[in-house]
Amino acid sequence: MTNSGITIERLLNISSAPMELLQLADPSIEQINQYLQNGYCFVARAGSGIIGVMILFDQIASSIEIKNIAVDENWQGKGIGKQLLQFAESFALQHSYSRLLIGTGNSSIGQLALYQKMGFEISGIKKNFFLIHYSEPIFENGIQCKHMIMLEKDLSR
Ligand code: ACO
Repeated sequence: MTNSGITIERLLNISSAPMELLQLADPSIEQINQYLQNGYCFVARAGSGIIGVMILFDQIASSIEIKNIAVDENWQGKGIGKQLLQFAESFALQHSYSRLLIGTGNSSIGQLALYQKMGFEISGIKKNFFLIHYSEPIFENGIQCKHMIMLEKDLSR
């Protein structure tokens, strides 16, 4: 897919996945490796450089989840995140999924705004997810990240 010079394509060789970018979205390398090995990794490129990344992960009940999405800090706020979310939706529709899921921390205010602007609706909370699964405390926006807020977009309508 190309839009204003940005291309998004599947990365088949996961050993060349952009780990630093992936860690912007998730501090756990173990989690990232698990998603890389079992999911679909896509990269956004400007020229030959990787400026964004996203991992989609098959879930039960015709659902697919965006497990990781990140844009290089120098490229944030320019619409690349929205392009990746739109790409995820197109990929899900092409592969006959009926729901696109995404989860983020209770402290990720900008991400929660972005996902809702893109049509995702809050569908649940995984209480204490980050306290249980992450060894180090995470703080953002002066808020401790404790719970995973789950959002979903119904693609069947
Ligand atoms: N309040 C309201 N809107 C906000 C806020 C806020 N606090 N913060 C951001 N936004 C909105 C912007 O206004 C913009 O929408 P607009 O165009 O309507 O104004 C939108 O969010 C940002 O859109 P993009 O420019 O397309 O996003 P970007 O390219 O910066 O990518 C991303 C977003 C991926 C979240 C990026 O900032 C990033 O990599 N962050 C660090 C990693 C991260 O947190 N990843 C997500 C973790 S959750 C997960 O991976 C499943």
